[in-house]
Amino acid sequence: MNVPVPRDIPLPLPAPEELLEVLLIVSFIVHIVFVHMMLGGSLFSLFCQIKGLKQIEYERLAYKIAQTVTVNKSLAVVMGVAPLLIINTLYAPQFYASSALIGGAWMAVIPLVAVAFLLAYAHKFWWDRFVNIPELHIGIAALESALFLFIPLIYMTNVNLMLFPEYWPEVKGFFSAMLLPNVLQRYLHFVSAAILFSALFFVWWSGRPAFQAEVKLSQPLLQSVRRFFYAFAFGATIFQILSGLVVFVSLPAQGMSWGVTLLLFAGGGFGVPALYWMWGNLVNPDNSLDRHFSRIIVLFACTILAMAVARHQYREHALKDHKLAIAQKTANYMAAAADARQEAESAALAQQNEPVDPGEQAFQRNCAACHHINLPTVGPDMGEIRRIYAGDAKGLIRWTQNPGKKRENSMQMPGFPHLSETELQAIADYMLR
Ligand code: HEC
Repeated sequence: MNVPVPRDIPLPLPAPEELLEVLLIVSFIVHIVFVHMMLGGSLFSLFCQIKGLKQIEYERLAYKIAQTVTVNKSLAVVMGVAPLLIINTLYAPQFYASSALIGGAWMAVIPLVAVAFLLAYAHKFWWDRFVNIPELHIGIAALESALFLFIPLIYMTNVNLMLFPEYWPEVKGFFSAMLLPNVLQRYLHFVSAAILFSALFFVWWSGRPAFQAEVKLSQPLLQSVRRFFYAFAFGATIFQILSGLVVFVSLPAQGMSWGVTLLLFAGGGFGVPALYWMWGNLVNPDNSLDRHFSRIIVLFACTILAMAVARHQYREHALKDHKLAIAQKTANYMAAAADARQEAESAALAQQNEPVDPGEQAFQRNCAACHHINLPTVGPDMGEIRRIYAGDAKGLIRWTQNPGKKRENSMQMPGFPHLSETELQAIADYMLR
């Protein structure tokens, strides 16, 4: 297989590799949890706003949710800096390659994020201005959600492509990288995680006494809203487990190991008791949605941790050989560079010991700017001059002391009154040699 092996920049890491890996996993978890709540929040806000066309209470709910979106979005962005920098540090050659291969889309992240954020702010801050044009308001929310859905797809395409250097030669831009065989199922798995975690977040959030005071829902409506979120969390968990299995079977084998498999199944396994308790609460008519809530959260926290570690192990495993090949190539390059430096140094040393030709030196200083060895530049080249003055050093000296005007398309050559007879003789000897 034709696997491109780029050369690395031979610089030491700024911290021990293991520490960077731990920081990568931890900072990524924090980042992705806020991304989930941002994306899920914008989808729920849109959903509730549409429902609010018929039932006004949902419109108030949509507004409350929109207020969380901008906060979670800011946290997602700020918390995303660290993992992005660490990925760039630990996997520079691979991440650089995949980013370049989907370059247009990767660069588009910046304007897309900016537009999505502005839409999120417009959606939230101008809520009252849109009361009479709900279609426009919903359109803004829909566009915002669409962008929040699309941007992670670019990220996922990139971090997936960096894992498989064997695809690099055949990938032609973002869409072909996006259609690599395992990206879309990974993406669906991510979107359902966003729905799951944001739904759980809203179950907790709408259970606080302050929420009731702010949104002013009747008690039965509040209960049905919370059940609505709870049911979403439940359904998303089932989808999560099923799509997780699809992701598992479609992951290319080269990153797989027993450790990764174990972690993935443990992570999925934590979801099973969580599902069991959630189901119990949903079928129980006493509306006790908060029962076992902290246990469920702890289970899902374990799931996220297991998945994040598995994801990292998979990446390390998938890139193991490629990292070795890069290290080898970089070492070869460093050795060759050291050799070349050595060679250049000894050549310079040899030259220093050679007697210098005063004619050549004076020529370099005074004439070389306009007379090239074999290219006519400002003046004729050395070959032409040699043809004219072969065996006639005196003629050449005479010309230089008193240059005439010969060639129609040339400027007049300047005179050199500061050069002595001996220097001119040396230059002429050198030029006609
Ligand atoms: C600033 C540019 C410039 C520099 C510096 C310069 N020359 Fe020239 N040289 C010319 C040009 C232009 C011509 C062609 C002039 C013409 O044909 O009218 C020329 C022509 C010549 C010729 C050809 C004359 C012929 O009979 O056709 C010789 C020989 C020559 N230069 C020698 C020298 C020497 C020796 C030096 C250094 C001491 C020197 N030049 C430095 C611009 C330069």
